[in-house]
Amino acid sequence: MEQLFKQISPEELCNNFNIFNLVGKDFFAVTAGNHEHYNSMVGSGGGFGLLFRKPNVWCTIRSDRYTLELIEKEQKFTLSYFFDEYKQKMLFLGNKSGRDSKKMEEVELTTIKTSSGNISFEEANLIIECKLIQITTPGLDDFYSKEAKEWLNDTYKSTSDYRKYVFGEITHVWVKK
Ligand SMILES: Cc1cc2nc3c(=O)[nH]c(=O)nc-3n(C[C@H](O)[C@H](O)[C@H](O)COP(=O)(O)O)c2cc1C
Repeated sequence: MEQLFKQISPEELCNNFNIFNLVGKDFFAVTAGNHEHYNSMVGSGGGFGLLFRKPNVWCTIRSDRYTLELIEKEQKFTLSYFFDEYKQKMLFLGNKSGRDSKKMEEVELTTIKTSSGNISFEEANLIIECKLIQITTPGLDDFYSKEAKEWLNDTYKSTSDYRKYVFGEITHVWVKK
């Protein structure tokens, strides 16, 4: 890991990267599991901030994602960002579920294990390791704006459509050397 990546602090992450790009423009791979069995999905949106006075990242994950099941089981996960040349390969992880496919064997990316036991990819240019802090599932009544209510009415047809808000304390940040 140390040969390919150097560690930076969450504060340096904010200085070196545009946070709104990280959750807006740049899709990321969310990965959870252990070295024997792990799974990734593509994520987008979310944010960075403080929770219990510690730097956290949060993302929204639909209730039926297999990756979410592994996040809950292992209580840790990574967000991995990629340069454009690997983005198409990474987007493959958002095409089908690992619950009923072998996408982790098929994806053309190289798995890397961190010293904390997290899983990411050698091709990533930024890896954020997280410890699971909180999962919240807001219901329809928790939203107030007209836009949010309209979106929810269109999208939330059954409980498996509900988005869970997953908060993880940032334990390590790695950037490509
Ligand atoms: C560009 C892109 C962004 C995505 N963003 C999210 C997201 O923020 N939350 C989510 O639950 N699914 C998102 N998805 C869908 C999941 O990545 C996709 O359903 C994936 O196959 C789930 O895999 P899993 O069941 O193996 O976890 C996105 C997919 C793409 C292609």
